[in-house]
Amino acid sequence: MFKLKIAPSMLASDFTRFGEEVTRIVAAGADLLHFDVMDGEFVPYFAISPLTIAALRKTTDVPFDVHIMVTHPFRYLDALATAGADMITFHIESADAPAAVIAGIKARGIKVGLALSPETSIDTVIPYLSQLDLVLPMSVEPGRGGQTFQRSALAKIARLRQMIDAQNLAVEISVDGGVTPAIAPLAVQKGATILVAGTAIFRSPQPAVVIEKLRQG
Ligand code: DX5
Ligand code: ZN
Repeated sequence: MFKLKIAPSMLASDFTRFGEEVTRIVAAGADLLHFDVMDGEFVPYFAISPLTIAALRKTTDVPFDVHIMVTHPFRYLDALATAGADMITFHIESADAPAAVIAGIKARGIKVGLALSPETSIDTVIPYLSQLDLVLPMSVEPGRGGQTFQRSALAKIARLRQMIDAQNLAVEISVDGGVTPAIAPLAVQKGATILVAGTAIFRSPQPAVVIEKLRQG
């Protein structure tokens, strides 16, 4: 139903020349650009701010896939809508009522995703599946790039895909964390349709080659 999309995670790009990195990675074949927003509370780090996303929005038409690792997602929706987010994915473990956040994102005309951390059961997101555009079972602890892919995510992808297809829903499955060309076929076989990759793409001297390999799924 969905074409496989590759979403480079800008967290792994060179922050001294962010705008040029966007241009470079779009030219290398990115389908989406993945931006991580953190609040220093939900995860003990900070990453990319809505103001930065707004500035970068002027440099490309490629859709922005914004992953928010924050305790109170609702507080960020206006800033992210203004910044030009095309998709906002928030965590089921965050403190705001999921139904309200989903409605708030949709009300702003933005696609909505729900992420879950590796130790969280997919049972927590099942009640919301029919309201989502994407679900993101994370394959590393949220907060940092460069971690190793946790294979437990594969079983989650498979079960989510089964449930989504059984209900005939149009929900994408994204996978984020430690994704490499070796991992990509495993995730795609189980039903992932968006591959987020930071280190694998940006640490390569040939990001276009890596994106193409990821795309072979
Ligand atoms: C981690 C972030 C990821 C991260 C992925 O919390 O959500 O998007 O940038 O980076 P790699 O591909 O290096 O694991
Ligand atoms: Zn992310």
